[in-house]
Amino acid sequence: MTDRSRSPYRSPRRGQRRPAATPPAPKDPARRVAYDVLRAVETRDAYANLLLPAQLRERGVTGRDAALATELTYGTLRRQGTYDAILDACVDRSLRSVDAEVLPVLRLGAHQLLSTKIPPHAAVSATVDLARRVVGQHRARFANAVLRRVSARDMEEWLAIVAPAAESDRIGHLAVVHSHPRWMVEALAAALGERPGSELADTERLLAAHNDRPRVTLVAKPGRAAVADLVSEGAVEARYSPYAAYLPEGDPAALRPVRQGRAAVQDEASQLVALALTRVPVEGADATWLDMCAGPGGKAGLLAGLAGGREAHLLAAEVQPSRAGLVAGAVRRSVRDAARVVVADSTRPAWREAAFDRVLVDAPCTGLGALRRRPESRWRRTPETAEGLAPLQRALLDRALDSTRPGGVVAYVTCSPHLPETRGIVDAVRAQRPDVAVIRAADHLPEVADVAVDDGDYVQFWPHRHGTDAMFLALLRRL
Ligand SMILES: C[S@@+](CC[C@H](N)C(=O)[O-])C[C@H]1O[C@@H](n2cnc3c(N)ncnc32)[C@H](O)[C@@H]1O
Repeated sequence: MTDRSRSPYRSPRRGQRRPAATPPAPKDPARRVAYDVLRAVETRDAYANLLLPAQLRERGVTGRDAALATELTYGTLRRQGTYDAILDACVDRSLRSVDAEVLPVLRLGAHQLLSTKIPPHAAVSATVDLARRVVGQHRARFANAVLRRVSARDMEEWLAIVAPAAESDRIGHLAVVHSHPRWMVEALAAALGERPGSELADTERLLAAHNDRPRVTLVAKPGRAAVADLVSEGAVEARYSPYAAYLPEGDPAALRPVRQGRAAVQDEASQLVALALTRVPVEGADATWLDMCAGPGGKAGLLAGLAGGREAHLLAAEVQPSRAGLVAGAVRRSVRDAARVVVADSTRPAWREAAFDRVLVDAPCTGLGALRRRPESRWRRTPETAEGLAPLQRALLDRALDSTRPGGVVAYVTCSPHLPETRGIVDAVRAQRPDVAVIRAADHLPEVADVAVDDGDYVQFWPHRHGTDAMFLALLRRL
């Protein structure tokens, strides 16, 4: 429940003329970088995971300042839904009317006040100083007033005021408390098999996990590096994937095997779904593998190494030339040069039908499985995003099956647990094709507990259960 009538603060309206911002001062580089990234995310749809490292590098921000900038940027974006509900109660009118340059200042301040150990007076004064530099004196005064109001309560007190009551609106409650759009809470609950009217305990654990910083996982590319090489550089052996190691701290790019292209950053579930494809027995030839959606090359890098060790060849196809370039980098110097990269639209294959023994279709998707690492994506996706992708996902899976020889195997993968793009797509394609049989995917990942869905027919990883992205896997045999 919000009570805006009590608010004494008036927000500057969007479009209102303001004095020009003064140029950036070198002071407080962490907050300045965080603000610039948040503003770029808000105003020009920038991606924080790409822009932040670039900005830190460009401005020479390192060490503790870089760590603070990262925490402030990612923390603010992850909890944006919660902060907006609180800020909405602290301005005199809808938060929507606050202009897009001021909004990131308010969110950044709310994050420091409600979710960090920064003392409140320091959080307010540093944020208002920043506001003075980036949006001018007038709007800094407004920010000061709003943040002082935010600082009057802690997070728990605010949530008791602004979140819908759990008893009457569990979904709405979870959406505000754990900072997700409402439709996404519903979609994730459905994917977990929980009914909207129920306790939603598993859904709540998932939503909470989305707000945690994900650990950094590395892959040692088969034939080029071993997990031991990563362990000797400070990583620790991973729980499930034989090629993975977790990096507890430090910059992965600074590790020698990573610099040399023999290892890379890759989520453990991404490794395991690619590995599962290579584990399914096939009768007869097993020499031609295809990755139909290869960019930027994470799975292709692993598959190229595995193909190299098994006298097989991988064709990695990617429709975007710049992403195909990244794939080329990822498979470079694989054992026996086992991979070739082509720029191609895989819905209109340039290769022969039934030419491949194993095919991976890692379909473009909403990415709801990687919300920990792409913090702004939860605010960008809509239910329509998934609807819009469905025809492409269906076409890619259909062409993947056409591209597989009888007896060969297809892995359909999404970095999303959202049912319309996981089981929805597989079921729709299966219904049209009598030449397809499901291979029980869970049988091919016996080392991972609690991943089986639909009696083991499909596999679904979860951040709160496995510490991985929420990857989905279906394995299909072409008859
Ligand atoms: C989920 S990403 C693949 C991730 C990749 N397999 C990895 O592990 O790094 C999907 C990729 O499919 C590409 N893509 C989209 N439509 C395509 C098409 N018609 N043909 C080939 N690639 C396509 C996108 O450009 C994007 O790079």
